[in-house]
Amino acid sequence: MSGLKNTEPAIDHLGIAVRSIDRALAFYCEQLGLSVAARETVTQEKVKVAMLPLEGSRIELLEPTEADSPVGRFLDKRGEGLHHVALKVPDLRAAVERLRGSGARLLNEPRAGAGGHLYVFVHPASTGGVLLELIQG
Ligand code: CO
Repeated sequence: MSGLKNTEPAIDHLGIAVRSIDRALAFYCEQLGLSVAARETVTQEKVKVAMLPLEGSRIELLEPTEADSPVGRFLDKRGEGLHHVALKVPDLRAAVERLRGSGARLLNEPRAGAGGHLYVFVHPASTGGVLLELIQG
């Protein structure tokens, strides 16, 4: 992997909305045997995040810091569960331009999120029903 640039998109992580990260970790870490690589609060999304590495990918546990937030509203409406799928793409800005040109519904401008990576969200109406996060690889 000596400086070779990945050209294929890959699954970066699966975002799972939970009411309590600590409670979810009892399952994912103590029972399943995963470990936590990082925990942080992403202020602009009003969410606490725990990243659990997998082979080539990660699970992202999401706990809202406020009921009135994207993940808080998701929990209210749908309960705990799969919230989004995140793909790592080699050129995020090019992907955003292409999607915008073809009329896809983007939910934000590229900005820095968990771990400082640039990301955008694409509305499920454009993706076959899955909230999709694109991350600069
Ligand atoms: Co995510």
